[in-house]
Amino acid sequence: MLNIALPKGRLGEKVYALFEKAGYACPELLQDSRRLIFENAGAGVRYFWVKPSDVAIYVERGAADLGVAGKDILLEYEPEVYELLDLGLGKCRMAVAGPKDFYDSGLRALKVATKFAGIASAYYERKGREIDIIRLNGSIELAPVLGLSDVIVDIVETGKTLRENDLVVLEEVMPISARLIANKAAYQFKTAEVEKLKENVKGMIDA
Ligand code: PRP
Repeated sequence: MLNIALPKGRLGEKVYALFEKAGYACPELLQDSRRLIFENAGAGVRYFWVKPSDVAIYVERGAADLGVAGKDILLEYEPEVYELLDLGLGKCRMAVAGPKDFYDSGLRALKVATKFAGIASAYYERKGREIDIIRLNGSIELAPVLGLSDVIVDIVETGKTLRENDLVVLEEVMPISARLIANKAAYQFKTAEVEKLKENVKGMIDA
């Protein structure tokens, strides 16, 4: 049996559809219910619905053998897991955004609001730009609008949130997509099953 942590929400539903096509169905999973654990013994899978930012924790600690997490989470928290496959889903980008006329005079530390302090710090360190990180948990776009920060480092998917708040992408940090990850010990014990699932899923991505 493979225990798989899926990110709750729209991405998780797309991921499940891919796994279903790959032969790991569990139809009950899509029922509108509050249950969080679903099993299909025949297909050898047990799925958990997990908050997207928590998937890597379940996998790192072995509560799940496999999981699907965004590259943003993997870069930010650097969990000790194996990254097996880019699923090509949940595509978006990490970007620096701010008012369209923003000009960095470089005279003081740049105020950067973000949920991704690690990614933002590493990015500006590479550029040799001193920053003052303002850690927020959501609605990051508000920060430059209210003058709390100069810019933000955040996920941009459609760009709608930026547009509707009169902000623009100033710099691209990196592309992001969902990755299949594995617990390191589980990978050793269940190598054949894990590799088979990976190949079956990969076949469906390419199909
Ligand atoms: C994410 C991200 C942006 C938005 C980007 O927020 O932080 O705010 O989505 O999507 P868009 O480019 O399609 O508009 P999320 O919905 O996760 O909410 P949050 O405010 O809690 O971060």
